[in-house]
Amino acid sequence: MEQGIEFDTDLIKRYNQSGPRYTSYPTAVQFDEGFGIADYNAAAVRSNASGRGLSLYFHIPFCDTICFYCACNKEWTRDRKKTTPYLERLFKEIELQAKLFDPNRKVEQLHWGGGTPTFINHDEMRQLMAKTREHFNLYDDDTGEYSIEIDPREATAETIKLLRELGFNRMSLGVQDFDPKVQKAVNRIQSEQETFTVLNAARAEGFLSVNVDLIYGLPLQTKDSFLQTLDKLIEVQPDRFSVFNYAHMPTMFPTQKKMREEDMPSPDQKLAILQATTERLLQAGYVYIGMDHFAKPDDELAVAQRNETLYRNFQGYSTHADCDLVGMGATSIGLIDNTYSQNRKSLDAYYAAIDAGVLPIFRGVHLTEDDELRRNVITRLISHFHLNFETVNQQWGIRFDEYFAKELKMLTVFAHDGLLTLDDKDIFVTAKGRLLIRNICMIFDAYLTVGSNSRFSKVI
Ligand SMILES: C[S@@+](CC[C@H](N)C(=O)[O-])C[C@H]1O[C@@H](n2cnc3c(N)ncnc32)[C@H](O)[C@@H]1O
Ligand code: SF4
Repeated sequence: MEQGIEFDTDLIKRYNQSGPRYTSYPTAVQFDEGFGIADYNAAAVRSNASGRGLSLYFHIPFCDTICFYCACNKEWTRDRKKTTPYLERLFKEIELQAKLFDPNRKVEQLHWGGGTPTFINHDEMRQLMAKTREHFNLYDDDTGEYSIEIDPREATAETIKLLRELGFNRMSLGVQDFDPKVQKAVNRIQSEQETFTVLNAARAEGFLSVNVDLIYGLPLQTKDSFLQTLDKLIEVQPDRFSVFNYAHMPTMFPTQKKMREEDMPSPDQKLAILQATTERLLQAGYVYIGMDHFAKPDDELAVAQRNETLYRNFQGYSTHADCDLVGMGATSIGLIDNTYSQNRKSLDAYYAAIDAGVLPIFRGVHLTEDDELRRNVITRLISHFHLNFETVNQQWGIRFDEYFAKELKMLTVFAHDGLLTLDDKDIFVTAKGRLLIRNICMIFDAYLTVGSNSRFSKVI
């Protein structure tokens, strides 16, 4: 399939509204505290019977300084000793979780996220991976997709070497913006040298894919300043770029209020940055994967998108479809069989549950068949920009045109506006509809009612 995008400013302005990013469906808003450990245990039994591969997520919440824009689940501390009690509990959680899953199931995907996973020291990294290998069936080669989020301020070339030895083969680097003025305004001072040291080390150690995270919409950013950052990075050819739209949710993330209102770029400036960034990345030979992500045409994500084997989950896009996800650490989310579940968010509550010898799950949701069907439709659209009705009919035993009659009618407006083409067999998202894929997916979201999308960030 063709992987282009076209920037249509009027259309984007018209469709710009708040909406979920669909790393899960239903979204966390639907998680309910009535979901408990017995539900989780039962889901694990069904999951084992399925024979699916496993995906493991480990959350390391600590950060040495807090970037004002940050919307991640993190704990600010300068005290490096805080990792000891945390890892003690994480190791106990590994033991508790491993008891529930068939030890023969292969770990197809593994991810350390944060916060800042490299906040823990080298010995702790070794111990965490050793504990994981002791209890789960990890690959010894690069068959699995084993990735880590790296803050270049918290990693040296030695750290990267160690991580490769431990089995990581993909990484994502937090960069955001090189401009010193922007860095000061967001409280993230990170030299270019720190970033390039880690990038070069990743290449030298043979990491299979390196992603760089950037954010547009930060204070004092201009189109030109952002392009300067982008150009310096394009020169070293990362395999992927994530160019996130700054998600502004100050009620949930109060440090966002520390950025001066008058320094924030206007919606028009943000659009100009996005347009220039998109054009520059396409010129440089990257393809648009969707939802903020760009990749080189030979990167596995781009290949999987062309083959329609791409998939989207909590870690973003992935080529490993259909794994069950075991989330470990405070705030982590799991996806086991037809359930989502989430761990306690505060460290105190997380520690208390583990110390009592129970899994720290505090809420979750059982997906109905309708949820699973809609999740599948949304995942296909968001990953492939294409949906073939017959494929869905065969998988789910429905008549798409009848089941989704209301949605198809709503999509005719989108077709009229040129976001997609629609006939009685397929939906194809057009080059100018791709940046608005969230809007298209929102049509299939049964939980969005008028006004309920205000708790999500803006689409663009
Ligand atoms: C957990 S952090 C990455 C690891 C590490 N803590 C770091 O910052 O380098 C995940 C990414 O989320 C993105 N992010 C955080 N807050 C955001 C926000 N408010 N809007 C958009 N992206 C955000 C940043 O690009 C960041 O690199
Ligand atoms: S962006 Fe990364 S380093 Fe900055 S506060 Fe968020 S999690 Fe911590």
